[in-house]
Amino acid sequence: MKHRFWNLFRSLLLFWVLFTALPVFAQSTGGVGAIINHHAARNFIAGSLSREDLDRILHAGIRAPSANNRQPWHFTVVQNQSLARRIIPNLTEGNVLIVISGEGDGVSNGRIILDCALAVESLYLAAQALGYGSRIYTGPIEALNRSLKGELGLPQGHSAVAIVRVGRLAPGTDGVSAASSRREAAGTVTWK
Ligand SMILES: Cc1cc2nc3c(=O)[nH]c(=O)nc-3n(C[C@H](O)[C@H](O)[C@H](O)COP(=O)(O)O)c2cc1C
Repeated sequence: MKHRFWNLFRSLLLFWVLFTALPVFAQSTGGVGAIINHHAARNFIAGSLSREDLDRILHAGIRAPSANNRQPWHFTVVQNQSLARRIIPNLTEGNVLIVISGEGDGVSNGRIILDCALAVESLYLAAQALGYGSRIYTGPIEALNRSLKGELGLPQGHSAVAIVRVGRLAPGTDGVSAASSRREAAGTVTWK
């Protein structure tokens, strides 16, 4: 009798999950969950990324839109840990840095910055869609452009715009609970 009760309970629970909870969750993000449920990773753990996944992440950056399809960016993948630590000193073992550079001095051409920023966002989201942690950095950019351009081999005439750090994430971290809060739409959006 007890056994039959638990079987019935389990079937009802499964029914509820399949036909009520999952569709509600899917609707709540309207199919754009991967874009909304991201977070700037802080709890990286040691571990490497496969070359295949790195290629997928880079492909997402390469596919970003740009004004007149100029694609003014370049992606420098820093796997060398001692070089990477000269850019972000407290790096977790195995983290990879992708330095996004654009034509010019990196600060004065707004259009190029915007194009590069779209590629940055694509790299950042692609890494998380593949289950990695990622975080965007501009803090180290000034020092990088001052002293590491040559060592990194940035293309002639390029300056770094941002860095995307990618690495393995502590199990159980999710983009909804780990993210900081955002302002409400009411104070951020104007409708006319
Ligand atoms: C353009 C840009 C520059 C950023 N620069 C840094 C940085 O230099 N150092 C850092 O720790 N985080 C940096 N971040 C990460 C932000 O602090 C983070 O995305 C933001 O606080 C939202 O956090 P959340 O995703 O956890 O909600 C940067 C993010 C962006 C978009």
